[in-house]
Amino acid sequence: MKKIYLIGIGPGNPDYLTVQAINTMKKVDVFFLLEKDGQKGKELLDIRKEILEKYLNSGAYRVVTAKIPKRKKGSRPYVEEIKVWRQETAAVIAGLIKNKMKEGENSALLVWGDPSLYDGHLEMLQHILKRGIINFEYEVIPGITSVQVLAARHKIPLNRIGEPIVITTGRKLKEYSTDEVINAIVLLDSCSAFKRFHGADIDIYWGGYLGTGDEILVSGKLKDIIGDIKKIRSEAKKKKGWLMDAYILRRTEGSESNE
Ligand SMILES: C[S@@+](CC[C@H](N)C(=O)[O-])C[C@H]1O[C@@H](n2cnc3c(N)ncnc32)[C@H](O)[C@@H]1O
Repeated sequence: MKKIYLIGIGPGNPDYLTVQAINTMKKVDVFFLLEKDGQKGKELLDIRKEILEKYLNSGAYRVVTAKIPKRKKGSRPYVEEIKVWRQETAAVIAGLIKNKMKEGENSALLVWGDPSLYDGHLEMLQHILKRGIINFEYEVIPGITSVQVLAARHKIPLNRIGEPIVITTGRKLKEYSTDEVINAIVLLDSCSAFKRFHGADIDIYWGGYLGTGDEILVSGKLKDIIGDIKKIRSEAKKKKGWLMDAYILRRTEGSESNE
């Protein structure tokens, strides 16, 4: 039987790999590296190559790189658009499993952060198996998420005593009232969705390119630093061509409610 490992590699620093991830990588015959379009795709691919070179002996494994289909943004309602894109990507992965590994071999996909958090690889493997065209086993090796790195770099816990934590996206944050924000962790925000809370008693802990050499950290009262963060975001996008950022919005200590 073929076996696929989904290995969480952390969000950008090769030192974030767990011992389990490294030991698993040593058992892998072929790594499938999936490349997205553009400069961001190239840099994220390079980090994966750096990880392989850092932890494995050259010649001990094969690498197959494949381009993944471009998402057709705005072509359909958002959830449907992502589903179609994942199915197209699943077809690429299915082709790799079918044609680029032999029976009895192990392969791996190196998943950014952890496969359980805003990541489609698990659903894609399950989709391939459901279609019944190829058969394989799979296993998940957990990784450090960008959420954990964000908290660690700001030296904060994700919540204070007994408080809830919500993990959401910039898109969904637009539906929150100020009163609902207690500890909101926001990923995938391309439009500075925190802007809607500009007058509220909320603290923000923001991080760009966490764990990498380009890392930027900013924190403080949202109303005091909102302009700084917007500026940093747009300058970073201009300079590097892409930005990956995450943040925590936290109701300011002592403010009972914002409404
Ligand atoms: C598709 S999600 C993948 C999350 C990933 N599976 C994880 O465990 O962190 C991508 C989003 O995660 C966040 N992210 C991932 N890596 C990051 C990093 N190094 N610095 C800042 N944010 C990051 C950003 O919000 C980005 O838009």
